[in-house]
Amino acid sequence: MKKIRLSPSGKTVTCDDGQTVLSALEKGGLFIPNNCRAGACGECKIKVLKGQYDQGFILDMALSQQDREQGYGLMCMAKVTSDELEIEYATEDAKPKLFPPEENRTFMVTEKVMVTPKIARLKMRSLGKPMRFWPGQYITLGNTSEGVPHKSYSIANIPNQDGELVLYVTKVENGKTSQWVHDSLKSGDMVRINGPYGTFIGDPQADTPVLCLASGSGLAPIMSLASAALMRGGYRKPATVLFSASHESDLIEPGYFKYMEAKYRNFTYQATLTKEKKDGYESGRIPTILGKLHPDLSKTSLYIAGSPEFVKDCKEAAVKLGAKEELIHEEGFFNQTTV
Ligand SMILES: Cc1cc2nc3c(=O)[nH]c(=O)nc-3n(C[C@H](O)[C@H](O)[C@H](O)COP(=O)(O)OP(=O)(O)OC[C@H]3O[C@@H](n4cnc5c(N)ncnc54)[C@H](O)[C@@H]3O)c2cc1C
Ligand code: FES
Repeated sequence: MKKIRLSPSGKTVTCDDGQTVLSALEKGGLFIPNNCRAGACGECKIKVLKGQYDQGFILDMALSQQDREQGYGLMCMAKVTSDELEIEYATEDAKPKLFPPEENRTFMVTEKVMVTPKIARLKMRSLGKPMRFWPGQYITLGNTSEGVPHKSYSIANIPNQDGELVLYVTKVENGKTSQWVHDSLKSGDMVRINGPYGTFIGDPQADTPVLCLASGSGLAPIMSLASAALMRGGYRKPATVLFSASHESDLIEPGYFKYMEAKYRNFTYQATLTKEKKDGYESGRIPTILGKLHPDLSKTSLYIAGSPEFVKDCKEAAVKLGAKEELIHEEGFFNQTTV
């Protein structure tokens, strides 16, 4: 058993052999931002002050040479090798309100339906206690005994008494886990999931207009966040979901968003098609049309989810329209082939 000491508080958490620092902190009820748990996004970067660790295989773009020289490491892949590791951890930034993730929770698949030619909606129910999570978080799903690696999938619904989770899984060509979900998994199958993870969560005190940008299954966390924000009642500022799809047939659950639009006066749903032109839809990629639809983003909170390229391009476009860094929240669906 090893120790992780947090500076400046001096608080310690224990760490099992082979456990990552991120996972040990989470087990100890402490949190650091993380988005991929695979050394690909850089979100879990932390300065290591003393002690040794094995960084594992990570992408250079997630931790630059300069970061390494300054003593930073990626905690999602870091494993402690000395008796103690001291890390910079501002305890006042800890968010104990997040629920500690658990591994190997047993769920049953209760429904699998194709909602677009490439995206399946998966409903699952917990056979134990309902999982507690915040809208916008994700779980990991896979089947280790069949050699299917666990991959991250965002929860699209909001916490509920039935313990139901809804996921939207895109079939990726040659993708191990997504193909398993699409081709093998069926209603009535038991699955093991880990979670909840992630910090792409709404700010309950936010009092700004909100604009959510999503493409493909990036709509999943946005659905959860938008539903929770609108249902919580007190929120009256304008909230908009702008969704990008190639064709009309790739729109995910447009009926749900039309319903939300009818029910909540402050909510607007906009869809843009990138590969066909049709009445009733915008046309073109979000980064290109954002200025026309939302010319001033200086007082708007943004939530952006989808492929890393989509998130990056949208963020750049939003910043040019005045969006403030501290009001931009991102969830890039990074590829985790490195795990
Ligand atoms: C925080 C987070 C949340 C996520 N939420 C969702 C979600 O709600 N729904 C969802 O469908 N996915 C989501 N993803 C992506 C998901 O975790 C997997 O990366 C994806 O399903 C591909 O895994 P795979 O095992 O099928 O493909 P792999 O076997 O890992 O990859 C197979 C091949 O496809 C390429 N590839 C991998 N991913 C993609 C991609 N997205 N687009 C194009 N090519 C790719 C790889 O480079 C490789 O060549 C999320 C990722 C993260 C980090
Ligand atoms: S690099 Fe660690 S969470 Fe993405």
